[in-house]
Amino acid sequence: MLDTPPARTRTLAARYYTDARILDREKELLLNSWQLAGHAGQLANPGDFITLSLFDQNIFLVKDRAGEIRAFYNVCPHRGHQLVTGSGNKAVLTCPYHAWTFGLDGALRGMQKRGNTDAPDRSTIGLSEIRVDRIVDFLFVNLDPDAQPMAEFAPGLEAQILACVPDLPNLVVEGDAAYGHTYSCKSNWKVMLDNYLECHHCGPAHHSFDDMMDIAQSKFDLHQNYTYQNAPTAMKADNAAFPLDLEHDVTTGQFWFLFPNTIFGQFPGAQGFYASRFDPVTPDLTERESLSLTTAVPTDPDMAERAGLRTKWSTDVVTIEDRDLCENVQKGLHQRGYTQGWYVTDPDAHDISEHAMRHFHDIYLSAMGETE
Ligand code: FES
Ligand SMILES: [Fe+2]
Repeated sequence: MLDTPPARTRTLAARYYTDARILDREKELLLNSWQLAGHAGQLANPGDFITLSLFDQNIFLVKDRAGEIRAFYNVCPHRGHQLVTGSGNKAVLTCPYHAWTFGLDGALRGMQKRGNTDAPDRSTIGLSEIRVDRIVDFLFVNLDPDAQPMAEFAPGLEAQILACVPDLPNLVVEGDAAYGHTYSCKSNWKVMLDNYLECHHCGPAHHSFDDMMDIAQSKFDLHQNYTYQNAPTAMKADNAAFPLDLEHDVTTGQFWFLFPNTIFGQFPGAQGFYASRFDPVTPDLTERESLSLTTAVPTDPDMAERAGLRTKWSTDVVTIEDRDLCENVQKGLHQRGYTQGWYVTDPDAHDISEHAMRHFHDIYLSAMGETE
């Protein structure tokens, strides 16, 4: 735990949220950091693959014959065609353009009629591999071949998550339907994370969430490259958000942020877990890509119904509330009358304190080579 709070009192200047030249620099920062790519449950069998794009970089992950999950740039080394699309299972990877084939380990296996051509030796050609690491079963990729392993970058994070959510390894991927679903927001990616990292706004802006939670007991802890929020509910089965089953449901929310753009959490309500990546599209547009997990077997006969009510509340209420706030702030950041704000921090009042957001900004400024 980091116990010396930084002294900065002013928030990130508006230009960090609005300037396309900043986003160009952030692109390198993000591509050379650990980016959430999926979950091992999506790659259960050899040949299973998933694809993703980070900015203009197309990537796929595949489980090879030895059971290892590998990541590659999704590009054929012959002339650059994309190799695979979507997700599925393939015994070999055949390029759609000229049908060069590659093994699941990325090695070139064959090409048509190569006998009398001057095609290069097969052993000299293969797919370009990318680093993969994981937190529990969440898979991350990093385009920096020299990146610190996750255990050094965010020491203690995996152990903390497992201590707080011991059942996490038994949960199964259910898609992106539950809390933390995929959507876009007309704000900078950091505005969305700033909003995630404080509960100063929870009372004024989230009336139903405020009714369900005991916001005054919320706590944010700061760690190397991540934060942890413990957020107990008010233990009200009937509340203004969605019904809680106090016997079977999660009654304390637990939320993590991993620098630069991943969040994890266990939301109150039906058992489960989610992870999201915030992808900047422009300085003023972000896509949140999410993955939700649930129990392999329902905890009780009404679990699915309660999970459905939570999803409806998340989609129709709290996501709209947060998106409206973030989009409103993004317009504010463009105002000539606004250049920089102030943090509210108080070690004894985590319900209004913005120290976790400041911690994010400290790490961000350092990674960008800036001081303010
Ligand atoms: S570009 Fe893939 S085989 Fe030619
Ligand atoms: Fe919010």
